[in-house]
Amino acid sequence: MTETLHPVYLDCDTGIDDALALGHLLASPRADLVGVGTVHGNIDAAGAAENTLRLLALAGRQDVPVAVGAGTPLAGGFSGGAVAVHGADGIGGVRASLPDAVASPGPEDTGDAVDLLIRLSHEYAGELQILAIGPLTNLAHALVRDPTLVDRIAGVTVMGGAALVPGNARPAAEANIWHDPEAAQATVAASWPVTLVPLDTTMEHTLDETYRRRLAEAASPYARACGEMLDVYLNFYETVVLGRRAAALHDPLAAAIMLGEVALLDAPRVHVEVDCTDGPSRGSTVCDLRSQRKAPGDVPGATVRVVLETAPGYVDLLTELLESL
Ligand code: BDR
Ligand code: CA
Repeated sequence: MTETLHPVYLDCDTGIDDALALGHLLASPRADLVGVGTVHGNIDAAGAAENTLRLLALAGRQDVPVAVGAGTPLAGGFSGGAVAVHGADGIGGVRASLPDAVASPGPEDTGDAVDLLIRLSHEYAGELQILAIGPLTNLAHALVRDPTLVDRIAGVTVMGGAALVPGNARPAAEANIWHDPEAAQATVAASWPVTLVPLDTTMEHTLDETYRRRLAEAASPYARACGEMLDVYLNFYETVVLGRRAAALHDPLAAAIMLGEVALLDAPRVHVEVDCTDGPSRGSTVCDLRSQRKAPGDVPGATVRVVLETAPGYVDLLTELLESL
């Protein structure tokens, strides 16, 4: 694994696992977080920016620009958020206990999230990595606003989709894709290298009550806030998803994969399309894996790497990184 330092633009709908991903990026020696754009999803886009600014203040990183992005998907309105999963404030009720966001650079300093992404793509041309861990609306707008963007991006890592496993928001659709299928289709169809980190692998990396307590009792204020907010997330996973007190590390795992910190065991580059019809499979990610039966590996001309399986043990790395903040 290389120790390259990657400039990263984070696009997020700051809920609980987004907060973990933000912490991972701030703590990893491989990431240089150069900007954050927010989007509708777990919470409204402005609320996601407020959460992000407060979390950055908690980590002493008010130098990172934050910009508000799309409040609604390309088609339709804001879903109302994921209160049952992430709490009404998106971060498990801890927002009010976090430092004020007033001293941080606000959206007015940076334009909207799309402006910020395009500006950073010039500043870090050929190097910028995009980590998208919410609905892909900002990326879709950016592709329209500046079609040359694709030429300046080193890679796009998306937490989203379900290749061979059930969805979570709908029977066949994962939440980030479900919230804006048209934007997801635009993102996977564009000619930049995309790495899709779907539920197939994120559901295999969980954090249980033992790790949550360790975070809640850590010396690092950021880790403690994560430990506290994770209580809400684990409640949801225990009662609705898994039947045991452990929750999937969707968004932070995508950060680790982008940075090359988790080994990929099965991750072919294949053709992917998002179902944008109005039927029961709307928002599903149709990954053409037929070739894998005969000859596992990359399909010539395909631009989307679908991460199906990764090495275990990520929860330890994440916990150590958060404790170091
Ligand atoms: C994704 O949906 C959101 O609720 C999480 O933050 C994550 O990005 C998981 O399906
Ligand atoms: Ca998210």
